[in-house]
Amino acid sequence: MTAKAKPTSAANGSTSDAQDAAPNPLWGGRFALGPDAVMERINASIDFDRRLYAQDIEASKAHCRMLAAQGILSEEDGAAILAGLDTIRQEIDDGRFTFSSALEDIHMNVESRLKALIGEAAGRLHTARSRNDQVATDFRLWLRDALDRLDEGLKGLQAALIDHAEAEAATVMPGYTHLQAAQPVTFGHHLLAYVEMLGRDRGRLADARRRMNECPLGAAALAGTSFPIDRAATAAELGFERPCANSIDAVSDRDFALEFLGAGTILAMHLSRLSEELVLWCSEGFRFVTLSDAFTTGSSIMPQKKNPDAAELIRGKAGRVVGALVALVTVMKGLPLSYGKDMQEDKEPVFDAADTLELAVAATTGMIRDLKPERDNLAAATAKGYITATDLADWLVRALGLPFREAHHVTGAIVKAAEARGCGLADLPLDSLQAVEPRITGEVFEVLSVEKAVASRRSFGGTAPDNVRAAAQAARERFL
Ligand code: ARG
Repeated sequence: MTAKAKPTSAANGSTSDAQDAAPNPLWGGRFALGPDAVMERINASIDFDRRLYAQDIEASKAHCRMLAAQGILSEEDGAAILAGLDTIRQEIDDGRFTFSSALEDIHMNVESRLKALIGEAAGRLHTARSRNDQVATDFRLWLRDALDRLDEGLKGLQAALIDHAEAEAATVMPGYTHLQAAQPVTFGHHLLAYVEMLGRDRGRLADARRRMNECPLGAAALAGTSFPIDRAATAAELGFERPCANSIDAVSDRDFALEFLGAGTILAMHLSRLSEELVLWCSEGFRFVTLSDAFTTGSSIMPQKKNPDAAELIRGKAGRVVGALVALVTVMKGLPLSYGKDMQEDKEPVFDAADTLELAVAATTGMIRDLKPERDNLAAATAKGYITATDLADWLVRALGLPFREAHHVTGAIVKAAEARGCGLADLPLDSLQAVEPRITGEVFEVLSVEKAVASRRSFGGTAPDNVRAAAQAARERFL
């Protein structure tokens, strides 16, 4: 599709025959020759910015209508331009459009085709605008759509997590700190932690969307224009909240892309943590969950294996999103105002991060939907590791009035006794408990069971099954 420029031979330093080409018809007035083939390669962005074609055409149509409404363009020329743009849209949709890297980017590819279709009138479309405000507008429109798709995906992932959380509101599992069994929690409670993270991710992305929803179009190259344009009209037609207030800022700002990448990096980190847990949970040492065949792969040599490749890839792909953020913030950090061609480097990282996040969210949703919690294994793991030691200490405080520090010490001695006997806390005979603290009564066994420990944690945001059911319902109302 794209006309590939021939590379210059580095060995003899000769320039290419592309120099014999005519200067660019759209800006070549002061040029005698066309660009070197290497110049064409480094300059062209059409291989990636063709993704902006729909937005580019929409923005051009809005600009055209506004120019006509303002009497800057005749009704006749306006109609010809709109019809030509619709034809181009159709050609690209149908895969019949020939993109050319000699025409650098999507803006010039479209305009050049428009000229071939409708003749001289095409040249009037670029009145009172520049590629600088054009690209900023297209890119915002594209990212806005990508954010809307991502938000839908995240909502679906939250729904999948909430469904499991409701079903597993009373399923006990070990809660960890330092990856050491700490206190019993419920599996539903653990999953709802991710629902909160994803809720904040959606909030950050929505916040970025709100701020990016201002229209650069009409800022022209950087200073605005002497034509009597109506920026509010184009902004409104393209669904922007308002025009960007400052023309220099409008063409030089890429905060909107960076905010997306920043929020996207945090999202990718959350997906990666969830994936890491899935990888652990389906490993031999845990067996807390079973992943479906649909989201795992086999090994070509070890027949027993079922590998959590999707989870591993999501964990790995977080690196690409972080990389995109670092790449773009580095591109921007030394740039003087306003536009610099460096900024053409904004698109690939953003496209890649958006694609990666969309795919990672879809794959995570699939894995979670299909996930089978292994309740027996979760219960067996919770029974190990003296996981109700904190409940014992709390009981000593409540029932015997010990200061917590003292209760902590007593409990430590009881754990040591259980370790010596090779049994769990709930299996220690009362006299062993009393050997450590004579005032302990049989009532203590009430709190040593995992189920009772979990059920007792009713504080707001705590893990008691009733809380988890209520929290899942509340999450449904807040997020879905
Ligand atoms: N392809 C360019 C980009 O992506 C469009 C803007 C070019 N502007 C210019 N003055 N050369 O940034």
